[in-house]
Amino acid sequence: MATVDSSPTLAPTLRVAPSILSADFGSLADAVAGITPGTDWLHVDVMDGHFVPNLTIGPPVVASLRAHSDLYFDTHLMITDPARYLEPFRDAGADGCTVHVEVGETAALITQMRDLGLRVGLAANPDTAFEALEPFLDRVDLVLCMTVFPGFGGQSFMGEVLPKIAQVRAAADAAGLTLDIEVDGGIDERTVVDVTRAGANVFVAGSAVFNRDDPLGAVSGILRAATEERAGVAS
Ligand code: DX5
Ligand code: ZN
Repeated sequence: MATVDSSPTLAPTLRVAPSILSADFGSLADAVAGITPGTDWLHVDVMDGHFVPNLTIGPPVVASLRAHSDLYFDTHLMITDPARYLEPFRDAGADGCTVHVEVGETAALITQMRDLGLRVGLAANPDTAFEALEPFLDRVDLVLCMTVFPGFGGQSFMGEVLPKIAQVRAAADAAGLTLDIEVDGGIDERTVVDVTRAGANVFVAGSAVFNRDDPLGAVSGILRAATEERAGVAS
């Protein structure tokens, strides 16, 4: 459950979650090892060809990666029937799972994730309103505001999502909840500044990390830009 904090300023940890969607699937363990010194989270994109038009990876790949990595596996389930797969992903080594509010049965899915010992995430597409997330904010650990329509890496950041990020952060602060607000889609050294200002603290980045010559340097650059933005706001 999101922790309640009585301090007036809630400043959840800033972190980059590199998305392996843009990594070389033929050398995943090497790709993950390359960014590991720069972060403690890895974003794992699961697509079912139904909720989104693309197909990616399932529990066997997570289990294989688990043998090579101690990172926190932040598992983004872009699938229509997550209830069926939460336990296999937990057994494979997922630390947290994020389901989409658009698939419905959200309260039951949150309970199922808790019972499985997973950290609980709830995602919303760019055109899904804050009000769809609001009833669940005190029951989740992480809210993922998609900054592109899910399905593919390498898309352009959608700035129109910024007000929703700010709404989620304001509601969490008002309720005294230390909530992770994650953003996913088109995040790089430049766009991370805007989402940090809006209140996000976990930054998924795929192409801005793994399509670079220096993925580890890219992770550091994104985190540095977010840290500078937060420091600037605080001073
Ligand atoms: C898209 C996925 C993202 C994707 C982001 O549906 O959920 O995690 O990897 O890729 P970039 O950072 O390239 O937009
Ligand atoms: Zn994702």
